[in-house]
Amino acid sequence: MNDLKRSLSEAAAAAFQAAGLSPDFGRVTASDRPDLADFQCNGALAAAKSAKRNPREIAVQVVEQLKADPRLASVEIAGVGFINMRVSPAALAARADEIAADERAGASLLADPRRVLVDYAGPNVAKPMHVGHLRASIIGESIKRLYRFRGDQVVGDAHFGDWGFQMGLLITAVMDEDAFIAALMDKLPDAPRDFSDADAAKVRAEFAGRVTLADLDRLYPAAAARAKEDAEYRDRARKATADLQNGRFGYRLLWRHFVEVSRVALEREFHALGVDFDLWKGESDADPLIAPMVRQLEDKGLLVEDQGARIVRVARPGETKKKKKLPDGSVIEVESPDPLLVVSSEGSAMYGTTDLATILDRRQSFDPHLILYCVDQRQADHFEQVFRAAYLAGYAQPGGLEHIGFGTMNGADGKPFKTRAGGVLKLHDLIEMAREKARERLREAGLGSELSPEAFEETAHKVGVAALKFADLQNFRGTSYVFDLDRFTSFEGKTGPYLLYQTVRIKSILRKAAEQGAQGGPVIVAEQAERDLTLLLDAFEGALSEAYDKKAPNFVAEHAYKLAQGFSKFYAACPILGADDPAVRASRLTLAQTALKQLELALDLLGVETPERM
Ligand code: ARG
Repeated sequence: MNDLKRSLSEAAAAAFQAAGLSPDFGRVTASDRPDLADFQCNGALAAAKSAKRNPREIAVQVVEQLKADPRLASVEIAGVGFINMRVSPAALAARADEIAADERAGASLLADPRRVLVDYAGPNVAKPMHVGHLRASIIGESIKRLYRFRGDQVVGDAHFGDWGFQMGLLITAVMDEDAFIAALMDKLPDAPRDFSDADAAKVRAEFAGRVTLADLDRLYPAAAARAKEDAEYRDRARKATADLQNGRFGYRLLWRHFVEVSRVALEREFHALGVDFDLWKGESDADPLIAPMVRQLEDKGLLVEDQGARIVRVARPGETKKKKKLPDGSVIEVESPDPLLVVSSEGSAMYGTTDLATILDRRQSFDPHLILYCVDQRQADHFEQVFRAAYLAGYAQPGGLEHIGFGTMNGADGKPFKTRAGGVLKLHDLIEMAREKARERLREAGLGSELSPEAFEETAHKVGVAALKFADLQNFRGTSYVFDLDRFTSFEGKTGPYLLYQTVRIKSILRKAAEQGAQGGPVIVAEQAERDLTLLLDAFEGALSEAYDKKAPNFVAEHAYKLAQGFSKFYAACPILGADDPAVRASRLTLAQTALKQLELALDLLGVETPERM
């Protein structure tokens, strides 16, 4: 099943070919003058240039061909050679019927599905999530859903940050604070062999009673701040990190405990945000692969010694050098991009090392054609290094790794959003803030008064989350935007709550229709508003394929918004149950049902849930 834009493009391509020109000129787009036409093709102008002919002459030839197309009510030349097309009411009605009968609401499936892994959210043990993680979660979830909906086999992985220096910091902080645990660490044997599972469980129970999530939340920021000032402390934390990575048994047990405590809390928060992962793997899962990988990189001649560290050079010959200032004030030229640091001079694996090894892990387990890393744009250099190293080592096919970067969510000061106290935002608090504002907004609008207290809460939650998600996803991901909860939660304008409200409104119209026993029927396209709505329904496929190709959910968000608006206009102009003619009533009911189905699908792809009532 093809959307009109695509099938008209095919017809235009054939017409260009018949005129002895490349079919590529036959690209049809939605008209930018909807008052004059539904679709347009500007190919005659480009064709004229390349064939050194008169554009109008070419347009005349193409139009002659297209006129035979029964779907077109009119084909006209405008200006120097633009071709304007209007679709016949019958062809529009047939397309609307097709979309109405289709459970995918007119969206096609990929001919060539792939295995795609989406790496997103990337929360860290104990470190509070910042706005970058929020955006990564929202955008990544949407891309995962979009890819899956189009037919790819998709796995979403949280890629939990459970292995870096912050783990050593926490171990150090806990041991400093809790003499019992410190003593226990000294007592624990180093060889897990002489330690039964029951013994391990006992130790873990001990930790559970002594180290809670609140402790981690409190200890981490203090430890991170201290490590910045205090070199001796930093060295101890580094040593603890290395010991943990080298397998010190007591540290591993303690670390397991940190990971579990954090994970439970994070999963709860993500769930509240409507973000769910298929895989909850961590950086630590790549650890067993690191040693063999380092050997392999060495064998391939990719690993180079550099001031005690081991690196992979990723800059290509002749690539831009960048200037670097040395501590003594002199300036030297260094290669750009920077090399990938694989093993630090202290012998530790770095962030890039785990990312490289994770590619190997993913290849073994899922063998993805494509890995999408939905991570803050500020990590672009990191990914450039990792990807280049992976291609050099043959760990992925060129193009098989892609960084889906995004801008920041800023505060009114234009800097990445912080809480009033200047701290990083906690997802939990953000959701609660949005929910509170949603409650207020609902009451203000006189909504939800007929709901039970529980249903009201659930609706407020959905409205709050929709506000956050839609505010994020309506922008192209690369764009930064300003956090403005008042605007995000408004029931007017381009907002999540507006979309939910429109959706609930259609649901209520359809409930009323069902109570009256009204039934849908074949679509009739007579009024302008019926035409417009049908064209919007037809444009779903185009919006999805653009969002897919550009890895940019804003095209889906834009479609959802236009559709909600289009329905609203349609409903104002075309009474449904009030229509006199039963055939018209049935047709409009079908249009309403179809609009709802498509709107809910689009919102679902954005990760937005709709309530039944408001
Ligand atoms: N945990 C990282 C951070 O907070 C993000 C992880 C992104 N994914 C990746 N494969 N590196 O910055």
